[in-house]
Amino acid sequence: MKIKVAIIGCGSISEFRHAPEYAANAHAEIAAFFDHNPERAERLADMFGGKVAPSIDAIIEDPAIDAVSVCTSNETHEEVTVKALRAGKHVLCEKPIAISVAGARAMMKAEEESDCVLMIGHNQRFSKAHIVARRLVASGEIGKVLTFQTTFGHSGPEHWAFEKSKDSWFFSKDRSVLGAAGDLGIHKLDLIRYLLEDEIADIAAFGGALHKTDSDGEPIAVNDNMVCIVKTEGGVLGTVSLSWTYYGEEDNSTTLYGEKGIVKIFANETYPVQVKRSDGTSRQYEIDGIQTNDSQTDSGVIDAFIDCILKGKKPPVSARDGLVSLKLIQAAMKAAEERRSVRVK
Ligand SMILES: NC(=O)c1ccc[n+]([C@@H]2O[C@H](COP(=O)([O-])OP(=O)(O)OC[C@H]3O[C@@H](n4cnc5c(N)ncnc54)[C@H](O)[C@@H]3O)[C@@H](O)[C@H]2O)c1
Repeated sequence: MKIKVAIIGCGSISEFRHAPEYAANAHAEIAAFFDHNPERAERLADMFGGKVAPSIDAIIEDPAIDAVSVCTSNETHEEVTVKALRAGKHVLCEKPIAISVAGARAMMKAEEESDCVLMIGHNQRFSKAHIVARRLVASGEIGKVLTFQTTFGHSGPEHWAFEKSKDSWFFSKDRSVLGAAGDLGIHKLDLIRYLLEDEIADIAAFGGALHKTDSDGEPIAVNDNMVCIVKTEGGVLGTVSLSWTYYGEEDNSTTLYGEKGIVKIFANETYPVQVKRSDGTSRQYEIDGIQTNDSQTDSGVIDAFIDCILKGKKPPVSARDGLVSLKLIQAAMKAAEERRSVRVK
């Protein structure tokens, strides 16, 4: 049996990840695309097959459709996801889960009241380098992790999103809401929870619109950079740097510093994971790199989503994971605004 999927929102993440990865999955079939710019849906239907749906409701009401990918702008995730779950469709929703905690909770309630899977697209957990690094930490390869630094930065969504414009929705206070911190930080805070199997307890941050301007030449209404200092429940200290102004080269690297050595992730192109121990020994792992804006590899997210539906498994990135990351980013933004550290409940 093939899972019939509809993709709602036909911009960059659909074109570069969702559509090609469904098309490559032997257990999935793309049944329909919808975008409120119909030419974008038509373009993807021409590229990947499937029909163009006339509306979201037409998808929701179609009994032949089993599952939906929500790839629209942030402010619409809640509405589209809740509608789809209430209609009995499994949902893979892009990050951030929602723009508010109340929105995320409404999605979780709709999931609880359905028999469907709700998974959030935090793809960093599926990168082979991160899976290997997590295993290394868990096996005690570098002893107890004491500190870390992680960063995620690129040249900004106006170079990535379908509309390459200074008026990108990513820069809008009402539509993006969380800025670079939400766009990128949500990935990295989720990753740290995953790598350390620990929860972030306290967060302090500085952020701002340092360089991006809108079409009137004014600074954008959301942050384009944020640097956070965090402390985990287990006492690990770390920094999380997020940027839409890393012009020239994307940086997605993480270093974990333990009692007996360090693990470096994405610091070296050939060896995405490197272990350097205090006794002078080292080990390098030649595995796939992560998806970058310029180099798209298989994220693994779609395969995991389809597998959950087929096998009735719980999603590897749950709505609760999405909610926790959202709360962490909100706490960072509050910390930056109020110039203090914030305890995360
Ligand atoms: N997991 C990742 O690494 C990753 C990377 C990039 C983007 N994203 C997320 O994916 C989502 C989409 O981002 P993108 O980069 O593809 O943006 P994009 O601007 O390229 O595409 C978004 C598309 O959604 C359409 N759209 C918006 N609201 C709609 C609605 N209500 N109904 C139908 N269509 C609607 C727009 O017309 C546009 O074509 C965002 O939430 C973003 O945070 C995730």
